[in-house]
This record gives sequence, structure tokens and C-alpha cells, in this order.
Amino acid sequence: MATEVVHGGIGASVKRKEDARFIRGKGNYVEDIALPGMLYMSILRSPYAHARIVSISTEDATALPGVVAVVTGELLAAHGLAWMPTLSGDTQAVLATDKVRFQGQEVAAAIATDPHTAQDALELVQVEYDPLPAIVDPFAAQLQSAPIIRDDKEGTSDNHIYHWEAGDQGATDDSFAKADKVVTLTTHYPRCHPAPLETCGCVADVSPATGQATIYMTSQAPHAIRTVFALVAGLPEQKIRIVSPDIGGGFGNKVPVYPGYVVATAASLLLGKPVKWIEDRTENLISTGFARDYHMTGELALTNDGKMLGLRVKLTSDNGAFFADAQPTKFKAGLFHIVTGSYDLPAAHVVADGYYTNKAPGGVAYRCSFRVTEASYLIERLVQNAAYELGIDPVELRRRNFIRKDQFPYRSATGWLYDSGDYHAALDLALEKIGYEELRREQMEKRERGELMGIGVASFTEVVGAGHGAEYDILGLRMFDSAELRIHPTGKGILKLGTKSQGQGHETTFAQIVEEELGIPFSDIEVKEGDTDNTPYGLGTYASRSTPVAGAATGVVARKLREKAKLIAAHLLEANPEDIEFDHGKLFVKGSPDQFKTIQDCAFAAYTNLPEGMEPGLEGVTYYDPPNMTFPFGSYVVVVDIDKGTGEVHVRRVVAVDDCGVRINPMIVEGQIHGGLCEGYGIAFTELITFDEAGNCIGSNFMEYLLPTSWETPKFEVYATVTPSPHHPLGAKGVGESPTVGSPAAYVNAVIDATAHLGIRNIDMPVTSDKVWAALRSVGVTE
Ligand code: CDP
Repeated sequence: MATEVVHGGIGASVKRKEDARFIRGKGNYVEDIALPGMLYMSILRSPYAHARIVSISTEDATALPGVVAVVTGELLAAHGLAWMPTLSGDTQAVLATDKVRFQGQEVAAAIATDPHTAQDALELVQVEYDPLPAIVDPFAAQLQSAPIIRDDKEGTSDNHIYHWEAGDQGATDDSFAKADKVVTLTTHYPRCHPAPLETCGCVADVSPATGQATIYMTSQAPHAIRTVFALVAGLPEQKIRIVSPDIGGGFGNKVPVYPGYVVATAASLLLGKPVKWIEDRTENLISTGFARDYHMTGELALTNDGKMLGLRVKLTSDNGAFFADAQPTKFKAGLFHIVTGSYDLPAAHVVADGYYTNKAPGGVAYRCSFRVTEASYLIERLVQNAAYELGIDPVELRRRNFIRKDQFPYRSATGWLYDSGDYHAALDLALEKIGYEELRREQMEKRERGELMGIGVASFTEVVGAGHGAEYDILGLRMFDSAELRIHPTGKGILKLGTKSQGQGHETTFAQIVEEELGIPFSDIEVKEGDTDNTPYGLGTYASRSTPVAGAATGVVARKLREKAKLIAAHLLEANPEDIEFDHGKLFVKGSPDQFKTIQDCAFAAYTNLPEGMEPGLEGVTYYDPPNMTFPFGSYVVVVDIDKGTGEVHVRRVVAVDDCGVRINPMIVEGQIHGGLCEGYGIAFTELITFDEAGNCIGSNFMEYLLPTSWETPKFEVYATVTPSPHHPLGAKGVGESPTVGSPAAYVNAVIDATAHLGIRNIDMPVTSDKVWAALRSVGVTE
């Protein structure tokens, strides 16, 4: 039986400190902020996906009582603010001046003394449009006849954005030449949306008296945003303070700079009053960072006995009207080249091309590390299909090709250095928990009776914790992170981080790291994030990077303080500093554990009774540049039953085994897994943002964009293995995104597994019952 953990350090499933305010409804969100004299802003959006703007008339709107100003792109252009840079180094219109390029694009903004008048004013803005043909897929974007979407960019003659490759083409071609079998899968990872419960918004407060700009905003990366604001608006950076208060879910949606933030800040600057802008649900779904929209073809070269020889991938990316993907600069398709997944593949080659279309920009890392989700989906679907083609059990095919435990650190064919892993152990545990052999027997019996039941597996490898800074940057800003720890005289402390929680429990887990390293109870450590005036610079929270990077920084800074505490303890105990040992907050002379000082004693002495010549205080700051990414992994198994008559898929069981190295708080980790499995379920079965031929967005509200509720969501059974990261100071890897990355393939593989014997190899997500029904009919199922 496991020993009960009594402390609140690493490994303790303590309850979240922040929940005391959240469950009482006492969170403090941007919408809760009210400043004296505050004005309200609403944004007019384009009804067309593609149209030239002939004229905009704002006179009637400006005349409406209560309206203070109506802002257009022309006005912003006069201040050099009509366009802004995107996170991928492209440009994006703040308010459209020449053309609108997607439905929902920002065209004008009304500012009024109350939110309803600001909204009413929009109806009085008259915009004359000259509609143009819309392009809603990246293949149509390549046609000779396609209109040029980005004709604002001088010298642009087509809709192509980038070409990018990874791996070794020659070696891959050679591996295919040797193959007995090549298995191909063409699939689309559809456009979906992070859809956080809290939409985006801000309160911009630029003081005409001091020039100080305080912007309260829903940002996952407040420090980086401050720098972007300084560069875009030309405001002096020391006068900009970004405050991200409580955030109601981000999932990548709150990483980019949206036009609303820029217009509200410009309006506050021009009007000398605070301006609040809060999106409604449709605005959030229609115009802010979408995710995925990757068209992928994967080819896997194998021997007849199931040895994988090589992987070839062709990727066509639909980036919308502006290339605004939030991702490290060097990598045009994010970290998609992790596509060899958990397999010892000797050769691989990835070719990626991105195209503009008349859709909202985005490409945000929706609960994933920059496109690893699409990569993981492709390889796990492909491997499952290869098993059917070769007549080998999908589990057995995986086992034969997994990178073995003794191969780590492992260099992949596309260049990654995987830090650690034990893929066989995670898969074995998942199979044991689900009762795999028994389920296969049940499946055979059911098949004989004509019933459809499937077992889907996905054994994913994630890549999280960006940087190293020399390799990974956003707009040139190196991806490191920071922690500043101050212990007050009474032994209580404050930890300030460059990251920003959006519900992940940082106020608890980062305090637990301090408890582990210093022995100060986690409840005595206050964790602060999200205020750029009061926290050290960091790149923010997304792509599961907080624990790998800021968590490491916290461990390192706490250890620095421990070393100083040892010197103080030696002074207090009149001992040699080299003889001082530390154990759970007690500092004692080697061999005499009864003669000790507590960390609290040392903290008090740091301000009251110091050794000669020592600087007072017990505080420090660390900027941590990780040497490598961390590579969490896991195996998920899903069991489904399918109704042949209706195509309805019932998810019977979901078993998840995750390995994120050392777990700081296992209960929070399990909560993260539950959330991600739920989001993965939504992506696999219910959620879709699509467009008609004219570029009208379908899926712009929760009646059409179907988030799973507790009613639809299956029950999850979660387990863990622990393979520490060798380079992380605490052995921890990130975890928040593993379940969204790993689970969609497991869900879809289960549906394919139920129907593979009939010849079905692909149904694109979301796997709705009508699609399953049609697929069954296409292979002759008539019942
Ligand atoms: O960057 P983000 O916070 O979204 O992701 P993360 O670093 O994976 O952490 C999500 C939550 O799980 C945080 O509260 C972490 O401290 C916690 N966690 C943990 O307790 N142990 C791990 N090995 C990884 C994360």
C-alpha cells in the first residue's frame, strides 16, 4: 500500500488554493474591472468573407446620444495603426481600410458611455462593400483563377504563404524503395476553436497626465504583449503595464494580439479615458484564433513483418486571411515535425505549404504545443491503419516499433532529441486496465453476430516546454521563463512568475515546489502572475510550458535561497557552513539532527541577525532557459459501440495512461487529463467550424458549435507511469495538453477499428453519426 503523503510538497494531492475564491464566485476577471469615467467599445464586423470597401460613413453613428467616437481604419492609419504585426511575422489589419478578408473581420469601432449605446451605434455605421469571390479551402487558393487575397502586400502574385520541410528526403525515398508495403492515409484535421468560457476583452487606461498605459486584458502572455504593444504603438515600454487578472480558460485562444486590444488602447489614448471592450460569444468564435485546419497525407513504409522503415508527409495548411499562427519563428508549421511520434523510424520527410484563405486567422496552439496535435493524430491513425493492412494487431505493431526505453535520449529522424520515455510500460498498463484481450474476444463474438464494436489505441509523444531560447523564439523573444522568490522575515513568502494561469492551478503547484525545496508550507507561499510591473519577464503560459520552464525556474531559485539559508544557519548554530544539512525545512549540523534551526528562523535572521558581510534579505530571481524540450507521452485506449442503423457512436470506456515525469500535484494532473480528454472528445465527435462557398462561417455559436456537456462526455479512467525528465531540475514534464493531443486519434481509431473489417479506413473528424451512417452505407451495410 502506498504511504500517505502528509506534506504539501511535490507529490501531494493538495486541494487548489485558488478554488476558495472561484467556487464562491469571487474571481476577478476583466469584465469585473470598472474604472471611473470608463467608456465602452463595440466592434463592427464584416458580413462578407471577401469584399472591397467602397466607403464607410460614420456620421449617423457619431450623432447618436451617448456615442463619444467612432473609429475607422482610416483614422487609425493617420496614427500608423491600421495594420499590426502578427506572431508569425505577417501583417494583419486592425480595422480594415482596403478590403475585408474574412467574415467577422473588424471594420469600425463605436465608443460610448454605456455598452448598449456602443452596440446600437454599430447599426448606424454605413459601409458600402463591393463583394469579391471567396476562397474557403487551401486547394482552391492554389488555382490560377483564384483571387489574390493579400493584394495589400506589394509583389504578391498568389495565395501561397510558406514552404517548409523537415527530415531527409533522400533517406526517406530509399526507405520506401525497400518497403514491402506502403500504407497511405489522407485526412483533414478540421478547424476547431478553443472556445474558452470567458471570451477575450480588455480595459485600456491611458492617462493623458502621465502617459502611463495600464491595460487589463485576457492574455496568456502579458510580458510578450507589453513588448509587442511598445513596438506597435510606439509607447515607451516602461510606461506600459499589462495586467492579466483571473482568466476563464485560454487554451491558446488568449495568446495573440487581437485588433480589439489595439483599438481600445488607441481609443483610450485619443480620448483620455479608460475604454472597455468585451467580445460576445459569436465574436470570439468567428474572429479570434482558430485551431488546426491541416490537410495531411501520410505514407508509411513497412516490411511485411511490421517493421517501420520510413514516413513521408505532405501537409497543406489553411491559415486564413493573415498568417497569425502563434508559434516559434523558425518553424512555419509549428512543431509538426514531431510526426514520427513514438516510433523508431529510421527516415522521415515532411513537406508543408501554407495558404491564405478567406477565413479568420489564428492557427493557435489549442491546448497543444504548436501543431503536435495534428502530427500525433496523423501518425496514430496511420499506424492503426497499417496494422489492418498487414494483418497485425494494432497493439503488436506499436510494440514492435516503439523507441525502446534503452534508446533514450533518442534522436528522431526529423531532428528532435527525446529526453526520456518508457512507451511499452505505458501501453501495457493501459491494456491491462482496459482488459484488452477480453475486449478483443468480445469484439470477435459481436462481429459474428453482425454487431459493431471497436477498440482504438493511441500511443502519443508530446513535445512541451519551449525553449531552448536559441532555437525557439516568438518575434525574436527567446522562450525562457522566470521566477522571483522573496521570503519575508516571518518565514512566509511570495513567488512571482512570468507565466499566467488560466485555470491550471499555478497558485497551488508552484507553491508546492517551494515547499519541496525550502520546507515552507505551500499555504505560506503566495503565487503572483500576470502583472508586468510586479513579475519578472517571461514568455507566458501555453503549450504546456509552465511546469517545464517556470517550474524549473522556481526549483532553481528556491535552491539558491536554500544555500543562503544554510550560511545563515551555520552562523546561528556557530557551525561550519559545509557541515549544515537540510531536510524538510530543518537546517542542522551533520550528525546532530536535534540541533537545528528552521527555515523560518533563518528567514528572520536574514533581516535581523546576519553573518558579518552578508547582504540582508532572503530573495532571488532566476531566468531559466531550458536545455531542451520535455517529451511527455502516454497510451490511451477507447472502446466504442456503433449502432449500424443510425451510425450513432457510443463511447463505452476511455482508459488513459499518462507519463509527465515527476508529478507536482497528482490530483491537478488528473484534472488536466480529464479536461483534455473531454476537449478531445468534442473535437473527435461534435465540434466543427466550417464555411459555405461564400465564406459564411457556420459554427459561430454554441447551438452550432457543439461543445460536449457532462451529458455527452464519457467517463474517464486515468492512470500514470512516472519517467522523470533527465534535464528538468525536478524531473517534471508538462502535462496540460497531452490528453487533447493524444485522445482524438484514440477516439477515431476506435470507430475505424469497429468498421475496418468492412473496409473503412477513414472518417474525418468530427465523426458524427451521419458520417458513420454514410460510411457504412458506402461499404454495403444496409441494416
Ligand atoms: O503551461 P500549463 O500550466 O498550461 O501546463 P503544465 O505545465 O502542464 O501544468 C498544468 C498544471 O499541472 C499546473 O498546475 C502544473 O503545475 C501541474 N503539473 C504537475 O503537477 N506536474 C507535472 N509534471 C506537470 C504539471
